[in-house]
Amino acid sequence: MAQKKMSGEVFLPSKEVIEKAHVKNWDELNKRAQEDYEGFWAAEAEKLHWFKKWDKVLDESNKPFYKWFVGGTTNIAYNCLDVHLTTWRRNKLALFWEGENGDFKSYSYYYLHKYVCRFANILKSMGVGKGDRVTIYMGRVPELAFAMLACARLGAIHSVVFGGFSVEALHERLEDSKSKVLIVSDGSYVRGKVVDLKGIADEALARAATVEHVVVVKRTGHAVNMEPGRDYWYHELCALPMGNMGCEVEQLDAETPLFLLYTSGTTGKPKAILHTHGGYMVGTYASLKYVFDIREEDRYWCAADPGWITGHSYIVYGPLLTGVTSFMYEGAPTHPYPNRWWQLIEKYGINILYTAPTAIRGLMKYGDAWPQRHDLSSLRLLGTVGEPINPEAWKWYHRVIGRGKCPIMDTWWQTETGMFMITPMPCVPLKPGSGTRPFPGLIMDVVNEDGETVKPNEEGFLIIKRPWPAMMRTIYNDPERYVNQYWSRYPGYYLTGDSARRDEDGYYWIIGRVDDVIKVSGYRLGTAEIESALVSHTSVAEAAAIGLPHELKGNAIHCFVILKEGVEGTPQLADDLRKHVGHEVGPIAKPEHIDFVKSLPKTRSGKIMRRVLKAKALGIDPGNLSTLEE
Ligand code: WTA
Repeated sequence: MAQKKMSGEVFLPSKEVIEKAHVKNWDELNKRAQEDYEGFWAAEAEKLHWFKKWDKVLDESNKPFYKWFVGGTTNIAYNCLDVHLTTWRRNKLALFWEGENGDFKSYSYYYLHKYVCRFANILKSMGVGKGDRVTIYMGRVPELAFAMLACARLGAIHSVVFGGFSVEALHERLEDSKSKVLIVSDGSYVRGKVVDLKGIADEALARAATVEHVVVVKRTGHAVNMEPGRDYWYHELCALPMGNMGCEVEQLDAETPLFLLYTSGTTGKPKAILHTHGGYMVGTYASLKYVFDIREEDRYWCAADPGWITGHSYIVYGPLLTGVTSFMYEGAPTHPYPNRWWQLIEKYGINILYTAPTAIRGLMKYGDAWPQRHDLSSLRLLGTVGEPINPEAWKWYHRVIGRGKCPIMDTWWQTETGMFMITPMPCVPLKPGSGTRPFPGLIMDVVNEDGETVKPNEEGFLIIKRPWPAMMRTIYNDPERYVNQYWSRYPGYYLTGDSARRDEDGYYWIIGRVDDVIKVSGYRLGTAEIESALVSHTSVAEAAAIGLPHELKGNAIHCFVILKEGVEGTPQLADDLRKHVGHEVGPIAKPEHIDFVKSLPKTRSGKIMRRVLKAKALGIDPGNLSTLEE
């Protein structure tokens, strides 16, 4: 490929990588997708199974409530499993798993299909059908994937709650989604300890009204409370008649809701992002195939958690749609020693590793000797997601883990986008720290307050100017908020909430969130969730949370707390408050630091000005203070 001279440090793809890649010429593919956008996506959709073909690829008649593949009927779970059963993939390994304690399980496509059908039958016996919500709260175990696919098979809507969240976070999500059934594991192993997920769920259920039945998957075997008439062991249900393994698939309209995934946004409670069967299926399928250059013989490992969008799109749905073999690992990367991941890569011959900058930085800290003790030569491609990757970590990942041979796919996307949006492909020249350019066909921009495109290398707001198939369809139960939050700032365009700059080569560099979202170790949290947890403590009158740069976590949470009259701000109380947030929201939300203060900077309308707190903590200029009241 003839390359014009590019600015900055550039890593060119090797001839070998280009020759073998699905996409050898990115510009050509992009040109094709730009010129015939709907045709491009229709061609991808054709590669999947539709019970009835669509009449229209994109319906823009009710913006911003876009519809894709209108009139078509399909089912994503059918495309993940059934379609492979009539081919040789029937016997192919779909999923294999290792527990933190060394347990091992594996499932061929044939076997996985049976397990999913059985789970679907169990849910059916509990009255779950089309449109019903089912909440799933588990560690990283295969049954989590079975449960998601079982819901999809029935046309039910799953809502997975990350296993690192705690009582109040789970309660809120159960209530908002009005879930009929909760699927939970008794516990999960994290760094050698058992996290008592069922215990947390019991506490959340005591506050939640809609859940009729609870399916409990045994993972750790520790003693749990089983509420008669409400709680059932999964393995017992499997052995009963409702656990039979034949289950008719629901033929669903392309726009049928597939899942809700709660995520933090600007102000207020977490909101439920809604994705649908048809468009999400086409988007995750095509993006995974092209970006990670999926090959039949690959062993692919996305080390994210299924409880976040990365796990939904690229542990569960995308990989099964492409028919690849994927690996799931339960535990932490450094348990019992910092070579656990490298050992797994060597042991299982992993070809593609997809993880987050925070994990890379955490592993880098232990030095090169740990990975170098292992044969990592099976790796062909690496990936990163969740937050900007600092060039130093990028280069370590490239040099030490990728032996200088594996291109790094730095994928920028969001819960809302469902699929990769800014991403390289293996044939694309890379710059450490940049996700390169938008996925073929997309139109994105970096604009100023007035919506004008900023000059190269200037910072601005990242927006998306064209709908895409895997886009969220709405916020569940709150379409107004969907319109206001994403489509109103620059009418007709999607507001990402990130700031970015674009260099002279058209490469995007993400700077960070410009709203009330804090990315801690790549996990997305909202200031409001942390603040309301603090305020729910009897000693606290008011609280504000901000994110400050942290070497390993990217950002760490710092809180400012006004105590109630007469309460003294002792170190012990600060510690209690940290624990309280951990109990309510989850361990990842525990503040790094708590400052007791007498007042908080507010606007005249009473909104806390977090940006002022942040500037003060960082010792920088707080900018425009004209709206500050005190
Ligand atoms: C951030 C995660 C820089 C960004 C898939 C975005 C990134 C938010 C990257 C969405 C990346 C994600 N480089 N920043 N490669 N990927 N982000 O919804 O701020 O958990 O808006 O989805 O993560 O987080 P979410």
